[in-house]
Amino acid sequence: MKFERATVIGAGAMGSGIAQVLSQAGIEVVLKDVKDEFVERGLKNIKRMYDSRVKKGTMTQEDADRLFSKVRGTTSYDELGEPDIVIEAALEEIDVKLEIFKTLDMICPAHTLLASNTSALSISEIAAATKRPEKVLGMHFFNPAQVMKLVEVIPGVKTSEETIKHAMALTKDVMKKTPVRVKECPGFLVNRLLFPYMNEALWALQEGATPQEIDDMMVQFGMPMGPLALFDMTGLDVCAHVNKFLYNEYGPRFESSPLLDKLVAAGCLGQKSGSGFYLHEQGAVPQKGEAKKTNPKLEEIIKELNADGKVRKSSKKVDAHRIILPMFNEAMYALQEEVVTPADVDTGMEFGCGMKGGLLKIAQEKGLEWCLTEINAHHKELGERFRPSWYLKKLVRAKVENFSELEPKQMAVR
Ligand code: 3HC
Repeated sequence: MKFERATVIGAGAMGSGIAQVLSQAGIEVVLKDVKDEFVERGLKNIKRMYDSRVKKGTMTQEDADRLFSKVRGTTSYDELGEPDIVIEAALEEIDVKLEIFKTLDMICPAHTLLASNTSALSISEIAAATKRPEKVLGMHFFNPAQVMKLVEVIPGVKTSEETIKHAMALTKDVMKKTPVRVKECPGFLVNRLLFPYMNEALWALQEGATPQEIDDMMVQFGMPMGPLALFDMTGLDVCAHVNKFLYNEYGPRFESSPLLDKLVAAGCLGQKSGSGFYLHEQGAVPQKGEAKKTNPKLEEIIKELNADGKVRKSSKKVDAHRIILPMFNEAMYALQEEVVTPADVDTGMEFGCGMKGGLLKIAQEKGLEWCLTEINAHHKELGERFRPSWYLKKLVRAKVENFSELEPKQMAVR
């Protein structure tokens, strides 16, 4: 299938990043949002991305101008033309998405693939709003979408193999990104693994560690940025929303500290609002190496939250392993459910969130038995967030030391 024309629905940070990637691949893109000001902001953002490439010397001004001119903004469904694919990156609310897909199904040509960049919602449910569920799928990009290489490609129950094949080819051959096929489950792969890790950072904050201590520790461990800086970049409101969804779907493993909701209620949404865990220049990208200032509201909120003395505390000073183990344990749950193959866990975490060293490789180096012992110890002290996956127990009992022992058994990722 040839991809010559695309539509992106939603001109926010993700939508504009996706539109930039598609246009850079030579595709004509229509960027649609509901208000002129949103469309204009999205186009301005894309222009900034092209300017950045020229400034870094990775693109000529001529190419940047030519490629930027491939993006056209609109607020009207009448102006979508005949796209080969639509990628929806609108509000993370199921009713909004169902309405969009219903409309797209009515106005798009029969051959158009309809993809959602949802962070966690059900692709099958979205597909059911259309009369072409075989052509509907998830294509989940990572923030900043113009930089992060991973795209999770997620079939719904009725998505055809052909649709998945085309989406994988578009991602790999046209957009030059790394596709990983993920079985539909809440949070898919990367968010499902990231959120227990980010949540654990919140609990550690509540136990007395500072944001800078936690972030520095995780950067040293091999993450490109710490979990609290990542909350600020992604948006605390977006994270709180995804978290609630994951908690409802999976239960107490995804219990988040009330700190997140308190910060959101206080208007601290991260970079976009000027404060989150840190203070920011509103809407600006933090400069590399810039000293971070902790949001003073954080201390007040933590004090208030801890006043009843009920928060469970670890007997050990928080370390990087405590923060990363919930991510590893969730990876074991995902493998237990055959959501991805073991090799794809490391690919996903490397290209979706820049983790160095490979999550499963690191766990192998420490030893699966060591990981299970640590998880069990935290489970005893800190509760259900650390309930170990039975698959991890099974591997330890079987004395499996290396995930490659389980390959090349190709799991049915569906
Ligand atoms: N916020 C927004 N954009 C940022 C940023 C920030 N805090 N920091 C850097 N960037 C952008 C820059 O503007 C630049 O964009 P450009 O190429 O279009 O100009 C680009 O990232 C590269 O900037 P740098 O050269 O300064 O790159 P660094 O080497 O410092 O890397 C990073 C920056 C790529 C953001 C890196 O720190 C990283 O990989 N962080 C992890 C990001 C991550 O985990 N993403 C996944 C989040 S979860 C998600 O998106 C799923 C969703 O469903 C919730």
